[in-house]
Amino acid sequence: MNVLLVGGGGREHAIAMQIAKSPKVDKFYCAPGNAGIASLAECVSIGVMEFDKLVAFAKEKAIDFVIVAPDDPLAAGLVDEFEKAGIRAFGPRKNAAILEGSKAFSKDLMKKYGIPTAAYENFDDAQAALAYLETAQFPIVLKADGLALGKGVLICMNKEEAIAGVKEIMQDKKFGTAGNRMVVEQFMTGREVSVLTFTDGKTIRVMTSAQDHKRAKDNDEGLNTGGMGTFSPSPFYTDEIHEYCVKNIYQPTVDAMAKEGRTFQGVIFFGLMLTADGPKVLEYNARFGDPETQVVLPRMKNDLLEVMEACVDGTLDQIDLQFEDNAAVCVVLASDGYPVSYEKGFEITGLEAFEGKEDYFCFHAGSKFADGKIVTNGGRVLGVTATGADLKEARRKAYEATKWVNFANKYMRNDIGKAIDEA
Ligand code: GLY
Repeated sequence: MNVLLVGGGGREHAIAMQIAKSPKVDKFYCAPGNAGIASLAECVSIGVMEFDKLVAFAKEKAIDFVIVAPDDPLAAGLVDEFEKAGIRAFGPRKNAAILEGSKAFSKDLMKKYGIPTAAYENFDDAQAALAYLETAQFPIVLKADGLALGKGVLICMNKEEAIAGVKEIMQDKKFGTAGNRMVVEQFMTGREVSVLTFTDGKTIRVMTSAQDHKRAKDNDEGLNTGGMGTFSPSPFYTDEIHEYCVKNIYQPTVDAMAKEGRTFQGVIFFGLMLTADGPKVLEYNARFGDPETQVVLPRMKNDLLEVMEACVDGTLDQIDLQFEDNAAVCVVLASDGYPVSYEKGFEITGLEAFEGKEDYFCFHAGSKFADGKIVTNGGRVLGVTATGADLKEARRKAYEATKWVNFANKYMRNDIGKAIDEA
């Protein structure tokens, strides 16, 4: 099969690593890819939102199967475009990707189908939202309705912060049109867990759990980022919690989408809060999470391409999804200053240390070739991942490996996986 992967971050590098292993693959392309993915697939310089060029490229190269990984092209209907061209594509269609594309839609869906989540109100109008804050309880969570690079969520400790937040989202349009609507949500406390699942629209297969670290600085301080590191599995996600979630959250979500005429085929990422009242949905994503994918996929035993085909073909019930009985930790090496402002273009050295090692991975998130060298090309640069017999071993190995690679302005959190010690 000829396969095209759309995307170019650490998540896509982890996907590419598994796809490249599949005996079913003949030619493997990635658009646009990055300097790490280039060792696994032929990278083509087409952006993820250049739909016409992507479809034309797929036709020209006789692509049999496309994987659309990032949220923006999914929400804008790239899978539909490939389908119209007669090309099988993995990922939800536009009408199903709304599960992530509109927070107001997903909250209304959960309310309608009794899926546990925080209490909320949706607002189209800033004045109405401000009036609601007069009698609200704090802390409170404000969410821009649309996609905002994972940054459209504000946790406000008091009324003053919340008033400023409503202005930022709805009036100043800090997150662009994503802030035309807004969800105001009850603040939940507990442990956060990320659970990725495959679905073909009827059957759901649950991957191993993970936990992300979203804040830029140690001790969960600093600004929200796309994610500074992950570990898998989460020791807090017990078998009992898993059974509850399958019955009350995962399968009901797949069934609800089908009932709404929005059959979801692809990956649903359940962002959960394990509250004192039981697990509740914090957010849905309509795709693999990043950097969760960088700790989940290295532990997966199946042929990823076969699982993805089953999602598209409606045969997921025939797949026995299996993961290694081990653990993985990913530490993101970022450019100092991320997520606000940072310099790019610095040479990355030491990457060869990962070659030939089965339990160490260096996923490229923001890198490119320049003058024959690999240089930094983003806020998040590398995801250094290690597997181990247990979480503590994986964490020790991941931090050891962060020393092998270097670039100017290298920055990382030093407490990824700290929660492991509290389990
Ligand atoms: N790590 C969270 C996300 O992928 O949105």
